[in-house]
Amino acid sequence: FEDRYSSAVGGRSEIKRIVAAEDQGKSLVGKKVSVCGWVRTAREADKGKIMFVQLNDGSTPLDIQVVIDSGAKGFDSLKGKVGTGASMKCTGEVVASPGGKQAVEVLVKGDGSEVILFGGVDAKEYPLSKKGHSHEFLRSIAHLRPRSNLIGCVARVRSALAYATHEFFRSNGFMYVHTPLITAADCEGAGEMFQVTTMMAEAEKDGKPLPMVNGKFDYTKDFFQKPAFLTVSGQLSVENYCCALSKVYTFGPTFRAENSHTSRHLAEFWMIEPELAFADIHDDMNVAEDYLKYCVRYVMENHKQDLDFFEDKIEKGLIKRLENLLAEPFARVTYTEAIDILLKESPKANFQVPVEWGMDLGSEHERHLAEKVFKKPTVVYNYPKDIKAFYMRLNEDNKTVAAMDVLAPAIGEVIGGSQREERLDVLDRRITEMDLNPQDYWWYRDLRRYGSVPHSGFGLGFERLIMLTTGVENIRDVIPYPRYPGHAEF
Ligand code: 4AD
Repeated sequence: FEDRYSSAVGGRSEIKRIVAAEDQGKSLVGKKVSVCGWVRTAREADKGKIMFVQLNDGSTPLDIQVVIDSGAKGFDSLKGKVGTGASMKCTGEVVASPGGKQAVEVLVKGDGSEVILFGGVDAKEYPLSKKGHSHEFLRSIAHLRPRSNLIGCVARVRSALAYATHEFFRSNGFMYVHTPLITAADCEGAGEMFQVTTMMAEAEKDGKPLPMVNGKFDYTKDFFQKPAFLTVSGQLSVENYCCALSKVYTFGPTFRAENSHTSRHLAEFWMIEPELAFADIHDDMNVAEDYLKYCVRYVMENHKQDLDFFEDKIEKGLIKRLENLLAEPFARVTYTEAIDILLKESPKANFQVPVEWGMDLGSEHERHLAEKVFKKPTVVYNYPKDIKAFYMRLNEDNKTVAAMDVLAPAIGEVIGGSQREERLDVLDRRITEMDLNPQDYWWYRDLRRYGSVPHSGFGLGFERLIMLTTGVENIRDVIPYPRYPGHAEF
């Protein structure tokens, strides 16, 4: 199984296909292979006549052991250069491992064996040479941290979850729709948008004065001729496609200028947003539950070694928690029921923010419901209209809207969604009530004028899904390049 995409090095074997094979590579004993990768650890033995190298190429968290004999071609070039992080190609024979952690290793000895050092490393300088770095330290070297076990495992699971996402929606008849990243519409109405202008930058660079009218910046002279922003959600745009193609989803980056320093918020994060026509809030909850379970099952079935790493190093009991998530239906309670439960729990739970009907649930309340009361993912629906966005469907009681949040143990909210208001008159009332300008939403209102249908959807924060699946506690460690206040380097 030489890799025909690695012809620059004359072909190579992916380390995963040897060490992570079902028989741990035993059927390959006697075969010649070439493995390329980065050195995790290297040591000399037998007075420098043999070198033991643990090599990793990122295809799996497992390393392959390579034993290099001093007689092998290229051995002399290794002296003093094979520290942790060095990159090399080793060509040798797969042999049964006489006592190592793994069933097989690669022996580089005799005819046709060869070792090539691509890039050496001075161990004294390499930032990752020591074991057991803090997550915080790893964040400061975002360019090198993919070589750490933690970020390698996260990257593989992240990629798998993206794949599972497309597989789930595609196999259930959803179409993938791309929605714009630059927009004039504030979907959530929360005013947490990053503004996009070109004039400001030009003025700064060229020292030109900014175009002004009545003491304010004149947007009509700017690139988009009106204030434009990075999107906080693709929802409004995806609704247009839903109301033509029935079942659609979008999956892309979203941006929020919230000055928040928590372990659950990023300024740039990825969101998966399905939207279904002819569907109510209960259909929406069904999709949310099935989709979450599909993703977790996919990782459990396909990424055992990565999960073993997380279980061992990040969260004892992770695999049991994921099994529990799959075992039972999620709990489903209305907001009003949830408040009643939290009021009863208040004396012993001692919440920092007291519970009352009408409040937005804080993270302490969300986690209490999912972790202490139901002990499994919990869907809370029918929230008070005053704490939710303008587009959510007003319920008969005139007090609540058909909104739902999925709360997960250890994480809190992973999904937020709703049935959308499809009645133009009610929508208009809500837009006015919330001090928004109906003209800004003329196209959104058009959908309600021409062939309006009941429809529903939700947004899942991709990074929160990764936290849920891996047990990693800080959202900054599950995205390759985290963006948060003061951090936009790399
Ligand atoms: O609840 P939110 O704000 O919902 C929406 O944006 C809807 N328009 C989605 C829709 O119905 N199509 O955000 C959805 C999810 C949250 O449940 C959370 O998982 C995640 O996005 N999220 C964040 N993740 C990381 N950093 C942030 N700052 C986040 N804000 C929301």
